[in-house]
Amino acid sequence: MNIRDLIPTSLQDLNMDPLWLPFTSNRQFKEQPRLLVSAKDMHYTALDGRQILDGIAGLWAVNAGHCRTPIVDAIKRQAENVDYVTGFQMHHPAAFVAAERLVRITPKGMGHAFFVNSGSEAVDTALKMALAYHRARGEGTRTRFIGRERGYHGVGFGGISVGGMVANRRTFSGALLPSVDHLPHTHLPQANAYSRGQPEHGANLADALEQLVALHDASNIAAVIVEPVAGSTGVLVPPKGYLDRLREICTKHGILLIFDEVITGFGRTGQAFASQTFNVTPDMIVCAKALTNAAVPMGAVVVKNEIYDTFMTGPANAIEFYHGYTYSGHPLAAAAAIATLDLFESEALFERAASLAPYWENAVHSLKGLPHVVDIRNIGLVAGIELAPIPGKPTARAFEAFLRAYEKGVLIRTTGDTIALSPPLIIEKAQIDRIFETIADILKTLP
Ligand SMILES: Cc1ncc(COP(=O)(O)O)c(C=O)c1O
Repeated sequence: MNIRDLIPTSLQDLNMDPLWLPFTSNRQFKEQPRLLVSAKDMHYTALDGRQILDGIAGLWAVNAGHCRTPIVDAIKRQAENVDYVTGFQMHHPAAFVAAERLVRITPKGMGHAFFVNSGSEAVDTALKMALAYHRARGEGTRTRFIGRERGYHGVGFGGISVGGMVANRRTFSGALLPSVDHLPHTHLPQANAYSRGQPEHGANLADALEQLVALHDASNIAAVIVEPVAGSTGVLVPPKGYLDRLREICTKHGILLIFDEVITGFGRTGQAFASQTFNVTPDMIVCAKALTNAAVPMGAVVVKNEIYDTFMTGPANAIEFYHGYTYSGHPLAAAAAIATLDLFESEALFERAASLAPYWENAVHSLKGLPHVVDIRNIGLVAGIELAPIPGKPTARAFEAFLRAYEKGVLIRTTGDTIALSPPLIIEKAQIDRIFETIADILKTLP
């Protein structure tokens, strides 16, 4: 049996009814489907045969470009070699190699990785680690988490509780974690519109953490979790000094600082992690997506040595952390991670992102002044182009831009009324030009 024989190659033969798509307007999609059937490097091929230039690395994830041979080969070989080994009281060597490769590129002193299968799981794992860490140190009253408005930390109950996206929380409001506060978001368009890189204004917003400490007392606060650059709420780059200030306040009060680097990890901001780009080291880094170039699901929580060491006490045969997933460190994911991290290094893709960043910045800021554009934000190979919403129809204008770009063979992403771009790090300058020329054309004719 060849699986290809079971997959229809025309829309008419495809029964779309049984599948419920995630974060999708299912009825609109099934009326006007966008189906991609293959991918290579910077392009997808659509079911109708068109080439689609990928302006978003799949979903902030395929940083080395699509279907890269070393990653594909590593997965194939591993699938033939060992399909599955539990990570509970057993394991297989590739998971250790993947962890070693990962901690090699995280900030100094963060030497231990815990594997999971997604960003959402990594977030919930980090929150649980924070509670367990404080408890192990005799500070079990530290149970409160601080997230941030406009934060996105996946869709687990922990993640939506510390997250700050109303659409993701509203429906589940009564079931969120009870002890959570939020810092104010850092989006200050009046002061910072059209900033190139880090905006000048807003470092003082971190001081809201001191107010929360004054309100609850530090002895009740476990951790602060933020994305260094908020992606899903429209590419909000941290104001200069903001992350440093958060770090200072956390250190002063013994609060753990967690950076959610699910989208900022693996070269997106021009260094391996945004922690390095902004020169602020958290206590834990949450990552996923480009860890395996998105070829096999995998996430990780990387922690400071001191956190790991705190767990490694007590009887040697006791389980130190009652947490884990059936697929933690799955052989295929581990193989994909090793091959991906190897490719990032051998092709110097993080350095490539850094060297392309000024060209990218100029290209995106060339859209200033076009119809509907109210702000442009960028860092590394990420950009957000904020559009004025159609009165009474928030998100409709940006979504229309997305549909038109797809028709023109360019994959962009929209969040709210912001176009968010994050191409594979292998992108060429001519492809950058193509993305922004396409968007410019669309903006000139959008309703
Ligand atoms: C910052 C951040 N955290 C967590 C997640 C959740 O990751 P996943 O969809 O793999 O669960 C995402 C997904 O986009 C993200 O952007």
